[in-house]
Amino acid sequence: MTMTTHKIAAIGGDGIGVEVVEACLEVLDALAERDGGFRFEVESFDWGTDRYKRTGAFMPEDGADQLRAFDAILFGAVGAPDVPDHLTLWGLRLAICQPLDQYANVRPTRVLPGIRSPLRHVNDGELDWVIVRENSEGEYAGQGGRSHPGLPIEVATDVSIFTRAGVERIMRFAFGLARSRPRKLLTVVTKSNAQRHGMVLWDEIAAEVARDFPDVTWDKMLVDAMTVRMTMNPASIDTIVASNLHADILSDLAAALSGSIGVAPTANLNPERETPSMFEPIHGSAFDITGKGIANPIATFWTAAMMLEHLGEQAAADHLMQAVEAATGNPALHTPDLGGAATTRMVTDAVIATVRGRNS
Ligand code: NAI
Ligand code: MG
Repeated sequence: MTMTTHKIAAIGGDGIGVEVVEACLEVLDALAERDGGFRFEVESFDWGTDRYKRTGAFMPEDGADQLRAFDAILFGAVGAPDVPDHLTLWGLRLAICQPLDQYANVRPTRVLPGIRSPLRHVNDGELDWVIVRENSEGEYAGQGGRSHPGLPIEVATDVSIFTRAGVERIMRFAFGLARSRPRKLLTVVTKSNAQRHGMVLWDEIAAEVARDFPDVTWDKMLVDAMTVRMTMNPASIDTIVASNLHADILSDLAAALSGSIGVAPTANLNPERETPSMFEPIHGSAFDITGKGIANPIATFWTAAMMLEHLGEQAAADHLMQAVEAATGNPALHTPDLGGAATTRMVTDAVIATVRGRNS
């Protein structure tokens, strides 16, 4: 049997990002050991706010290029209380996503066993969504500027960019993903009543792409109405596609409805695999609980399962998700964000034990 090596770049970043990535690397090692068919070669990078404070840059200038040598990137979170968030976000996370053209941000949401949705009426399986977020342009394209700082005539602009190429590729990806799921159901989120240029192009391209996916049932929803539908009628939704800003907001709502932001994973994909994709929990660096050892590592473990799937290790991905679900199914392994008293260490040890087959 030949042994496959997966080269992983690990970037813990700041706060609990470092804690959950460390926990995740332990779990990945246990999975590789048990599987026997692959191994990980992990290089850890100390990029983040401490580096910024020391050197003035969150990562080296050629940071994104250094990452091209890897098969995948495992990312924690970035952000510190004493550095403005726009510097942090653009200095590290977007400085990786944009040059590596990870244009499809995929965010599965499901109420895992043992976890209760804050929605009283949600039963098993009724909330099982994947949100596809356009991750390269739209409202976060980075175009805009400020003039006349401090004067009464001060002006600031953030220009949303919607290109035919950018919208079409995310629509094709979303329709394809919807097709791969049992219900073959896609909701295209828009705001084309108020935003009458970019979002109208978005709607037009959705209708064009839909013709190539006749087996996918799709509908269109204004983003404000979508929040109501997600809350009131979650079972009517399966796959969702939305712009960078809209999906950013909707996916935090989705994470909350699935029980905790501490369990929500995401993948920043370059679907053509021209560059490595990046896998991260949705949550941030959570300074309020940093260093306390109580960060929920489940989001990062789930994100690692997505990474394994992307790397072609489906059996290991499935095995990891079973171990994750065994952990969430046991209230004694719920961290405080889920109302329990477990620690990161306890959850990690339990998942590793299940991976090794030493739990029953
Ligand atoms: P946050 O996600 O860090 O925390 C929000 C709340 O959820 C906090 O009460 C936190 O304790 C809790 N929480 C988050 N993840 C948790 C986990 N795994 N286990 C248990 N509880 C968890 O969001 P916040 O407070 O808005 O941002 C903090 C910093 O993180 C900011 O600097 C922000 O810019 C940054 N951030 C970075 C992201 C990234 O790197 N992708 C994403 C979101 C925020
Ligand atoms: Mg967000």
